[in-house]
Order: sequence, then structure tokens, then C-alpha cells
Amino acid sequence: MTTNAKKITARQMANAEIVNEHTGEKWVYSDIVKDHFFNPRNLLLEDPKEGEFDAVGMVGSPACGDVMKIWIKVDRTSDTIRDLKWQTFGCGSAIASTSMFSVMCTEDGGMVLTDALKIKPQHVMERLAGLPNRKIHCSVLADKAFRKAVNEYFRASAQHERVLVEHARVIDARLNITDKDIEEAVLEGAQTLEDVQQKLKVGVGDPESIPEIEQLIRFYHEKYYG
Ligand code: FES
Repeated sequence: MTTNAKKITARQMANAEIVNEHTGEKWVYSDIVKDHFFNPRNLLLEDPKEGEFDAVGMVGSPACGDVMKIWIKVDRTSDTIRDLKWQTFGCGSAIASTSMFSVMCTEDGGMVLTDALKIKPQHVMERLAGLPNRKIHCSVLADKAFRKAVNEYFRASAQHERVLVEHARVIDARLNITDKDIEEAVLEGAQTLEDVQQKLKVGVGDPESIPEIEQLIRFYHEKYYG
């Protein structure tokens, strides 16, 4: 059987603009993103051996159901990251941003843990020369899994005073919706009160909570989209 369809090479795919067929929106990936997608750094292909790492953190994204796992090895004396490896079922943006995150944590002899904890998704995106807005939640997976791994490390090494505590605060008591739910909605692309209410119905029966909801939307938007 003959076909006129051309074979698309990996390089052509890497150079392609991704266009949303419904909205016409172009998702252009930088050369750095493509490089980290096609040649991911510090990716772990097989599960590690017992004792190879000090801790592991795992998260799943409510936006897409994808899973991210990060393993870390820490030099206790210098408090630096000696090794960081990862696995994910996430998309190309998750692969590229986690690859870059792993490079940032381990380059130049490894970052001090307290500095690595200050890496924000925007910093990773700057190093990647940008990501499409709708893909920013993919870059947050590495940050979240890393924080879990660091907490496991702190607990395992009896540094309990350093454990990072991230409390959820109830914003709408009737629906039991917290600031974390609003954060996830923003990460899934909600930009306005209307967008967030479409997803969560938050504040619909509790108008007094609206100013706080709007403040949180601005805060998380600034945090993740800069
Ligand atoms: S990790 Fe799920 S869409 Fe990118």
C-alpha cells in the first residue's frame, strides 16, 4: 500500500509550532524546552536500589492526573543536594521543566537545600526561555514533589524543626473550599473570579468571602505567572 503521508522526524516535531485546533492559539516551545524534552537530564529509568537516595517525594496533578516522583540525596554536613533524580507520567512540559529543575539543583556541586527551596516555577521557566501559559501547572509538579522529598529527608534525619508546613485555610465554609483549592484552580488556568467560580462555586452563596477570593486569585496568579 502506498501513502502520500510524509514521515515526520523527531527534529521536525521539535521545530513544529503546536497549534490548538479549536482556538488557533500557538504553543511555541523554546529550543531549550525541546532540548530538555528530547534529552531529559537526571531522569531515572529504573527504580533506585534500597538506600541509594535519602528521600523521595511524589505528587499527582489534579489538573491532568499525572504523577511526579523525585528522589534526593543530601550531603548532611554541607546541607547540599548531591543527587536528584525523577520520573513522571507528565507531558513534555513537565519533562522539560523537571529536567531543568534537576539541573538547577545539582549544577556547580549542588545547591544548599535552603536555596533550592527558594526556586520558584518562574525561575525554571526563565531558564527554559518560557512555557505556554496553559502549561505552567506542569512545571509546578517538580516543585511540589521536591518539597515532599525534602520534608521526608528532614523527618528521616530528625530535623523536625525544618519540616515545611503548608496549612490549608478554609475560605468558603459552606462548601469547605480552601485556599489550596483556589491555588489549584489558578494552576489549571482560571484567571478571574468568574473562572474560579465556574470550577468551584466558591463564594456563590457567601458574598462576604469574595474580596478574599479575589485577593487569592491575584496572589497565586502573581506567584505562578509573574
Ligand atoms: S503534566 Fe499534565 S498536562 Fe503537563
